[in-house]
Amino acid sequence: MARSLLVALATIVAISLGVHGRQKTVVPKPHFVPVRPAPPTSSVQLTIGLSPTNVDGLHAALYDVSDPKSANYGKHLSKAAVEAFVAPSADSVKAVTDWLTQHNIHPEVVSPAGDMLRIDVPVSTANALLGANFTEFKDQRSGATLVRTLSVTIPDDVDSHLQFVHPTTQYVTLRVKSNPRFKVVPPPTVSAKRQSLPSECAIDVDPACLQAFYHIPIAPANATGNAIGVASYLNEIATEDDLESFFLGFRPDVTTTPKFDIVSIDGGVTSGDGTLEASLDIQYTVGIATDVPTTFYSVGDPGPFAQAFIDIVNFLLAQDELPLVLTTSFGFDESEFAGEDGLANTFCNAYAQLGARGTSVFFASGDNGVYSFGFDSDCDATDFGPTFPSTCPFLTSVGGTQGFSPEVAAPFSSGGFSNMFATPDYQGAAVGNYLNQLGGEFFGLFNRSGRGFPDVSGQSVDYIVRVNGTFLLVEGTSAASPMFASVVALLNDARLNAGQPPLGFINPLLYSDQGAAALNDITNGSNPGCGAQGFPALQGWDPVTGLGSPDFDKLLALVTGTGV
Ligand SMILES: *[C@@H]1O[C@H](CO)[C@@H](O)[C@H](O)[C@H]1NC(C)=O
Ligand SMILES: *[C@@H]1O[C@H](CO)[C@@H](O)[C@H](O)[C@H]1NC(C)=O
Ligand SMILES: *[C@@H]1O[C@H](CO)[C@@H](O)[C@H](O)[C@H]1NC(C)=O
Ligand SMILES: *[C@@H]1O[C@H](CO)[C@@H](O)[C@H](O)[C@H]1NC(C)=O
Ligand SMILES: *[C@@H]1O[C@H](CO)[C@@H](O)[C@H](O)[C@H]1NC(C)=O
Repeated sequence: MARSLLVALATIVAISLGVHGRQKTVVPKPHFVPVRPAPPTSSVQLTIGLSPTNVDGLHAALYDVSDPKSANYGKHLSKAAVEAFVAPSADSVKAVTDWLTQHNIHPEVVSPAGDMLRIDVPVSTANALLGANFTEFKDQRSGATLVRTLSVTIPDDVDSHLQFVHPTTQYVTLRVKSNPRFKVVPPPTVSAKRQSLPSECAIDVDPACLQAFYHIPIAPANATGNAIGVASYLNEIATEDDLESFFLGFRPDVTTTPKFDIVSIDGGVTSGDGTLEASLDIQYTVGIATDVPTTFYSVGDPGPFAQAFIDIVNFLLAQDELPLVLTTSFGFDESEFAGEDGLANTFCNAYAQLGARGTSVFFASGDNGVYSFGFDSDCDATDFGPTFPSTCPFLTSVGGTQGFSPEVAAPFSSGGFSNMFATPDYQGAAVGNYLNQLGGEFFGLFNRSGRGFPDVSGQSVDYIVRVNGTFLLVEGTSAASPMFASVVALLNDARLNAGQPPLGFINPLLYSDQGAAALNDITNGSNPGCGAQGFPALQGWDPVTGLGSPDFDKLLALVTGTGV
């Protein structure tokens, strides 16, 4: 599917601007327009990823503790054990340190395992180090300015020790799961109403509707050590004021004041008027995972967006105690990582590390059907566009549904197949079953050997949210991810109370026969985009709604060992 690659790649051995080694040259998409050479004395901050010593060992350990058939199921790894897998070898550290020292550069170690370094140098130094020509580009889609280069040359004796140097040749832009569509609605009448399902849910999706439809308990969680995290970017912020009003209207059964903590990373905002995505994410974690301690991780803008994703993961991996569940409603077009496997793999392995330590990682799948985040307006792609990190096999991607009888696929629910990550074993049978049912349809438009996403789904239309004093109805897979994450946080609560470990990386469990039977299979609807019909939701797993939406009662029976 080279046609769809955002960047065309050439890898040649060359002498470039005085640096001997492997040269990589890229041709960015035309909407990245060069403006001028980056001023030589301006500074550029680069993250250098060193090759992990034993990434296969990390993956094997992750599956060993996540596969319910394994004797080690639930025996999550310590911080030190996980770090040992990804730590660079002494040779790698020496080769890279020597290389930087030759240029009089002294890096800072920014990951707990020592596999990521950061340097802050003048553009002239970066150009000399990498045989680069750092240039200011304007992203005409977003209006953002990026400092990038069209080529880098890595010395031969360093090359094999590096995963990536970012930002150099990566033209990657963050998408909020598309601007969530919304409409303004009148404030709710405050009452202790708890209507029967159909009338409750016909008006809007609120916590009572989700609790009734998915059998989610309203009783407060109480297990020691339980916690849920919400990752947020782009200066999104939620407020206590909106949350309290939301609870007055929609959780009248809760008598205590709802709350959440805010942790700022990279100078992320900690106050201000509530914004849409953050308010949605907080109101449907605090509002569903009743009394589970909730932390809002506000990640600022360190410049390149991929760095923001790197920084939150390093922040979390440095903690002794991790949130047991993490939900994110932001992502990228996978095609923007084409040719940058080192960077994409580093992200994906970071989620594997969180999973190995016992955290369930959820990402919204995206809101543009089969054509990824960015293609809804341009429709310039020639094949279906998967979203990243949803295509990483070591996390749980959440798609969208709508309606109640029947519950059907939300047409915007992003889903499809990765061009970078192969189908993992745990979903081999489920994906094979789908491809058989699909036959030859859409041949050439997607990668039949890629990791299929999403894994699961949930209601994603007409969520009522209070944003800066106003009630809105919001739609998007952004709503489904915090909801599903909250369900898992409540399942963890039951497990912790029963003396069992948390669920951690949950896909191997969900794709088992018993796991799939504990979800509501969605078999109606599809995810069209850019004029294409989109994948149909069919019996079993499909790349629109995954295995389906949660049934808490069945999941609880499954995860507390009393059978389905
Ligand atoms: C660097 O890029 C600029 C355009 O931004 C170009 O004018 C200049 O010739 C390039 N320099 C080298 C050494 O390639
Ligand atoms: C904790 O919550 C569970 C489920 O609601 C409940 O059965 C149990 O009594 C609670 N335990 C305590 C100590 O409150
Ligand atoms: C399809 O996916 C596989 C598995 O990730 C990958 O190796 C292959 O390069 C992909 N093919 C194309 C044409 O992208
Ligand atoms: C929040 O609401 C206040 C009061 O209505 C308004 O002045 C302010 O502009 C709003 N903030 C945003 C970000 O919309
Ligand atoms: C699919 O759902 C629509 C309503 O959303 C309904 O009209 C139609 O009958 C359903 N089809 C099947 C096969 O269930």
